[in-house]
Formats: sequence, structure tokens, C-alpha cells
Amino acid sequence: MTNPLHRVLDLFEQASRVSDPCAMFVTLVTLDDGGMPVARVITVREVTDNGLIASISATSPKVAQLAADKWEVLCFWPSLMIQCRLRGHARIQHDQATVASWRARPKASRLADTYHARGRSQSSPIASREVLLAEVDALARASGDLTECPETVATLLLKPTLVEIWLGSVEDRLHDRRAYSLTHAGWSEQVLVP
Ligand SMILES: Cc1cc2nc3c(=O)[nH]c(=O)nc-3n(C[C@H](O)[C@H](O)[C@H](O)COP(=O)(O)O)c2cc1C
Repeated sequence: MTNPLHRVLDLFEQASRVSDPCAMFVTLVTLDDGGMPVARVITVREVTDNGLIASISATSPKVAQLAADKWEVLCFWPSLMIQCRLRGHARIQHDQATVASWRARPKASRLADTYHARGRSQSSPIASREVLLAEVDALARASGDLTECPETVATLLLKPTLVEIWLGSVEDRLHDRRAYSLTHAGWSEQVLVP
């Protein structure tokens, strides 16, 4: 059968066409050191035949968590009443495309990445919001145009080997659920009870 990521790409495009508020946002779940789930929203920058591309900070604890490949992405587009669940392999890289895309971002975003890179890791505790604001302000004054992309800016490629698509059928509750798994023989489809 054909690659279900074509369908996933089509769903992202449909959601974008109808201006769904969640068109670009998904929930990424990982497991922390104690095996507890950690969920957070991230922004999907691109969807290709290969998977989903996002931008994250390599200073975040999610980078180590993703290395174990125990992650799940949940997409939900309320305008379409469609849910999609993805699992598979995660790859984190810093290449020319990472730098080019970073340079095109708003200054506030480049400043936040530079702040993380200069010793304040994302998600680390800090004494107070006042300390945070003062440090970021001092960094903004000292760093000019922020054209140097920090090495900690990372491109995350989520390459699914399992895709589940849930098409809502609100009237009769007989939602159309299909799970797609990637094996050596290619993708296979399984219909699931809703
Ligand atoms: C709408 C929205 C979009 C976000 N997009 C991103 C993103 O693209 N990349 C990212 O690392 N964090 C993004 N965040 C912040 C994350 O949810 C999270 O707070 C941050 O990545 C720290 O996660 P951690 O606990 O895994 O370190 C976004 C949050 C929201 C609410």
C-alpha cells in the first residue's frame, strides 16, 4: 500500500486551508527518566514523505528522551474532527537548513535560542521571572543582530513507523480508525474498532 504519510501531509494541508487553529501544532509525548509521560505542544514546520519536521532546543531534556525513540505525536484538527497518532524514530540534527531557517525567524525567537545556548538550558529552573527578564534584556543589548545560529538550535525529524488516523463520524460514533505499520515488506493497514 502507499505511504500513509501522504495522507498525513494531505490532512495538514486541509487543516491549513480551513484555517484550523491547530493546523501547525501537535502534542509530542516522551518519557522522562522515571518513565513518566511528558507532553508538550510543538510547531510542525514541514511535513514530507519522510515525516514531520520541527525545531527544538538541544538544551531541552526532551532531546535525551527522544533518543530512546519512545515518543508519540498526537495531531487533532477540530475543524476536521480528525485525529492522528504517530510513533517511530526521531532524528535530531543541526545543519545548513537549520541555520537558514533559524536566520529567518523573528528576533525574539533567535534571542531565546541564544539565551538557552549561553547556559540557561530550556526547562531548567531559574530564581524568578525578574531574573529571567533582566538576563534576556542584558543579552539583547550585548548581542546586536543575533546572526550567529547557536549549535544548540536543532531540527527534529520525526519519522513514523506507526500511523493511526481517526476520522470522526460524530452522528453515529462509528469513527473510521485505521492503523498503518511500516515493516520490511512496506506499509500495512489495519482497521480498528472505534
Ligand atoms: C503553540 C505552541 C507552540 C510551541 N512550539 C514549540 C516548538 O516548535 N518547539 C519547541 O521546542 N517548543 C515549542 N513550544 C513550547 C513547548 O510546548 C515546551 O514548553 C518547550 O519545548 C519545553 O519543553 P520541554 O519540557 O520538553 O523542555 C510551543 C508551545 C506552544 C503552546
